[in-house]
Amino acid sequence: MSETIAKIPRHIAIIMDGNGRWAEARGLARTEGHAKGADSVRATVRACRSAGVQYLTLYAFSVANWQRPAAEVKALMHLLAHFAEREKYELRERGIRLSVVGDVSELPTSARRAIESAMEYTAGCNDMVLSLALSYGGRNDIVSAARALAIKVRAGLLLPEEIDEQRLQAEMSTHKLPSVDLLIRTGGESRVSDFLLYESAYAELLFLPIMWPEFGEEQVAQALAYFANRERRFGLTSGQVQNSNGRSFDPLDNTHAPVQLQSLSQ
Ligand code: FPP
Repeated sequence: MSETIAKIPRHIAIIMDGNGRWAEARGLARTEGHAKGADSVRATVRACRSAGVQYLTLYAFSVANWQRPAAEVKALMHLLAHFAEREKYELRERGIRLSVVGDVSELPTSARRAIESAMEYTAGCNDMVLSLALSYGGRNDIVSAARALAIKVRAGLLLPEEIDEQRLQAEMSTHKLPSVDLLIRTGGESRVSDFLLYESAYAELLFLPIMWPEFGEEQVAQALAYFANRERRFGLTSGQVQNSNGRSFDPLDNTHAPVQLQSLSQ
């Protein structure tokens, strides 16, 4: 494996912020910013696939986003449904499997059905996994996982001392995803806003001043170049990492070899 290929992040996660401000700055409705943001999603998915990124996770709708004005929530749900209906053909052509993290059952029926249908349509794809975080909250996911483990302990299926990082992760909605390597946020804010808190423990963070509708192929290339120049140490010394032949030190990453996408069940 060449040095360049080894430096491609296996899992990129993106907080797609700035649609509203992008629109307002142009005298447009916020929902037009979201519509333009969907174009950026398309361009980003293509660029990541071409670069060989195996997992791309997009923060499309947080638990907190339910508090937005009803018309904006409705427009976002419509956009998501439309995206799933329209893009599933290209996703399958490109070998991209659509998946969801968070709680899809909270979505209106039309959006849920469109997304589930696209997931089913792309279920056999093994080249990349595109996950949409929907009705997602990182704290929420950790709490649900803790509760699931507590139920197992109460039922006598698990001892408290058997609880470890892997077992907690196995109960989370993100359990089929590897740890995040590169977390990108557009929109000029430097915060993670409850996104993939557990999964991003060792992620490289990239905060960009541009708004999400301005993000696309060129910005993916710049983000990949940024990542390629980072030295990830996972709490070790630089010398230890340099003598490791590229082996991952993430305790949750037990697949040091390239991920076997085929082994993921839908
Ligand atoms: C944050 O921008 C963005 C969202 C809450 C929704 C993200 C949705 C999309 C990019 C479009 C649809 C998604 C898919 C997957 C097709 P903001 O509204 O908070 O912007 P602001 O901070 O400028 O107000």
